[in-house]
Amino acid sequence: MTLPVAVFASGSGSNLQSLLDYTPRRPDAGYRIALVVSDRPEAGALERASAAGVPSRVIPVSGRDAGEVADDTLGALEGAGVSFVALAGYLRLVPVPVVAAFRRRIVNIHPALLPAFGGKGMYGIRVHEAVLRAGCRVTGPTIHYVDERYDEGTVIAQWPVPVLAGDGAPEVAKRVLAVEHLLYPRVLDHLCRAVAEGRDPEPFAPRGDTFVPAEPGARDVSAEIEAALGRRPTHRPEPREHGDP
Ligand code: GRF
Repeated sequence: MTLPVAVFASGSGSNLQSLLDYTPRRPDAGYRIALVVSDRPEAGALERASAAGVPSRVIPVSGRDAGEVADDTLGALEGAGVSFVALAGYLRLVPVPVVAAFRRRIVNIHPALLPAFGGKGMYGIRVHEAVLRAGCRVTGPTIHYVDERYDEGTVIAQWPVPVLAGDGAPEVAKRVLAVEHLLYPRVLDHLCRAVAEGRDPEPFAPRGDTFVPAEPGARDVSAEIEAALGRRPTHRPEPREHGDP
């Protein structure tokens, strides 16, 4: 069974693209993207939705009554028959009534190992600058459930990515983003499959030594991610996830 999912995005939407690109190669995928929601009419994510033939809605947030935003959001989700939400670079708090209606049915991806380097204002390049300032040697994406606060819900999955000598924030950002694109679709598939079958998702247990540097010749750990999820890779070999290194 395939769960209809909404993706919320404020920005370029490269994670949305990785979620979109994952399902056509896997007829047994646990999710399909039924709706894209953005707070910004100029978000690149909306163009990606349109190119993929996925309906989208702009629901502005700035300067609006919170109750109206919540009503619009719930209406959009209901209208699209959506039962799960994936945030992918959505820079707004999800309205409290939406969190309440979709408890443990909304997930987010964050580009650092939460609970470190999260919270209000911690997005984009600032996250990686903070990681470097702290002298971390390991960083990586976190996928977590969404609650009423920024980046505080229970962690579902993380994947370690090295910080290498000489890295600046853009290098770290690029390396982490490459892993996000591998991790998010597979974890969403895993979660939606469990929800569709009426069971709790099993814990995700990454192996600690599986780094994915984005440098040329780096190995693709998608099979290792799938093994950690307890799932045998069933898809055809693919050239690349999408245009990212
Ligand atoms: C990603 O780094 C994600 O972790 C964070 O926002 C960024 C979104 O990038 N939540 P994109 O719009 O998917 O390219």
